[in-house]
Amino acid sequence: MEQTRWYKDRVFYQIWPRSFKDGDGDGVGDLYGVYEKLDYIQSLGCDGIWFSPLYPSPGVDCGYDISDYMDIDPLYGGMEAFRKVLDGAHERGMKVIMDLVVNHTSDEHEWFQKSRRRIEPYTDYYIWRPALPGGKLPNNWDSQFEGKAWQWDELRQEYYLHIFAVKQPDLNMDNPLVREEVKKILRFWLAQGVDGFREDVITFISKKDGLPNDYWMPTVRGIFHYNHGPRVHDYLAEFRRDALSGYDTFTLGEAPLVSPRRALDYVDERRGQLDAMIQFQSMEADCFMTDYVPLPFSARRLKRAFDRWQKKLDGRGWNMLYLENHDHPRVISRYGSEKYRVESGKMLACAYLFLKGTPFIYQGQELGMVNWRPDDPDLYEDVQTRWHYAHMLSHILPDRVRLKWCHRSSRDNARTPMQWSAEEHAGFTTGTPWFSVNDNYRTINAAAQEDDPDSLLNFYRRAIRLRKELRVIRHGSFTDHAPLSGSLYVYSRRLGNERVLVVCSFVERPVRFRAPDGFDLSRAELVLCNYGAERSGNGFITKPYECRVYHFAQNR
Ligand code: GLC
Repeated sequence: MEQTRWYKDRVFYQIWPRSFKDGDGDGVGDLYGVYEKLDYIQSLGCDGIWFSPLYPSPGVDCGYDISDYMDIDPLYGGMEAFRKVLDGAHERGMKVIMDLVVNHTSDEHEWFQKSRRRIEPYTDYYIWRPALPGGKLPNNWDSQFEGKAWQWDELRQEYYLHIFAVKQPDLNMDNPLVREEVKKILRFWLAQGVDGFREDVITFISKKDGLPNDYWMPTVRGIFHYNHGPRVHDYLAEFRRDALSGYDTFTLGEAPLVSPRRALDYVDERRGQLDAMIQFQSMEADCFMTDYVPLPFSARRLKRAFDRWQKKLDGRGWNMLYLENHDHPRVISRYGSEKYRVESGKMLACAYLFLKGTPFIYQGQELGMVNWRPDDPDLYEDVQTRWHYAHMLSHILPDRVRLKWCHRSSRDNARTPMQWSAEEHAGFTTGTPWFSVNDNYRTINAAAQEDDPDSLLNFYRRAIRLRKELRVIRHGSFTDHAPLSGSLYVYSRRLGNERVLVVCSFVERPVRFRAPDGFDLSRAELVLCNYGAERSGNGFITKPYECRVYHFAQNR
């Protein structure tokens, strides 16, 4: 079927279901809650939804450990509630993409239970290895969440590979039967009417032959032996050919450690294995490779990441744009300022929403939700955070310091319940919430922002509307006018004579901005800003975290 690439004109909203909205009062977000909030999502201007996993799952990694791929967890309302949400979204002109998690399953999945008992045809569905002499592990790889990447199975008397949690065994994608299962899953959901997939750590699905030891990495050893592995492109091409090509879809691959050059191997439109990638470089402007190796924030690093992806993919592939998701702390707490929460939140929106690509907004980002800092480490739910707190440098760092570290780096920062109102539990549930609500909900919530024209929520609405109205923002070319500046991001978009100029200050202190050559601000319309803007010739002195968006129409 022809791929119309409808995703290029859309803005997506990511729902992390557990914490979005509880509709049945059991304290856990669900699809009844999503149904109630479809109009809210539409009111933002979003016309796409990405659902983090909704499938039955023991919940060790909050749904990324799946025990049945062809169903919806009863906790979320089951298949019936899903149908209603899917129809409701489609009636509102929204597309819906599902999370496809096929690098691993839950150890409670029937396939794994049969595989450990060597019941055919499941014996080789996972990556099993005997112990090396002396009971040693098959290789020196680390898991991303819980120590070593191998777990001994008493029943089968072998080790299995788990790149993530112990309860997330990796599938053996080299087994053609496993690939058939993946295609069945794809066809099943496409037949239900979903519009595409966000493919979880999809670049990990092909492991290097022989699973060699890793001598290079100080941590997450092994990653270069399973990321972008030898047959990943064959497998993606196979999924496209045998399952996806019958539908007009959007496929978005999550890709840790990927450069834009390498990304083209996946997203070059002539190859068409994936439509876009979730890259991590724009999430590394204040850390080294992972959120747990913090560095001071550098606007230059952020700009460099955006610019490289904008330029490299231009005309060949498509970008996915984001600043938050369920795997990273809140962006205002990272790249902005909690002191200037609203101002910097608006500026950050402008820093990415007007780039070329398909923007994603993560639940609560549009409200300016910020990091959550519990006093008690036991309140953390995330498997990675809990392991990190208990084990990382625990022999030298006192508890207090490790707790602070989690405050900055934990994924749970983004997973506290959505703050709908100043009512009890932030209006998220009428029951007891499954997870702590951030104390600041009385001031930061959707209800308080709904009718305030200057709220961040309404700023997001205006920004998205602008994207929708101006084709130049969706399809124009990109130029960074001040790549060396450590405080300002000044970029423009151009389509024919029409131009848009975006000015973002990443600092509190005043900075002198002068319009780039060829841009006469007196001929432009100021279409968006986070302070009232007085005219001052062809430049201005910035206020803290100021942003302005100028539109130069065709004939000006
Ligand atoms: C991806 C998901 C993350 C999950 C991991 C393992 O990175 O986004 O939430 O923990 O894969 O499935």
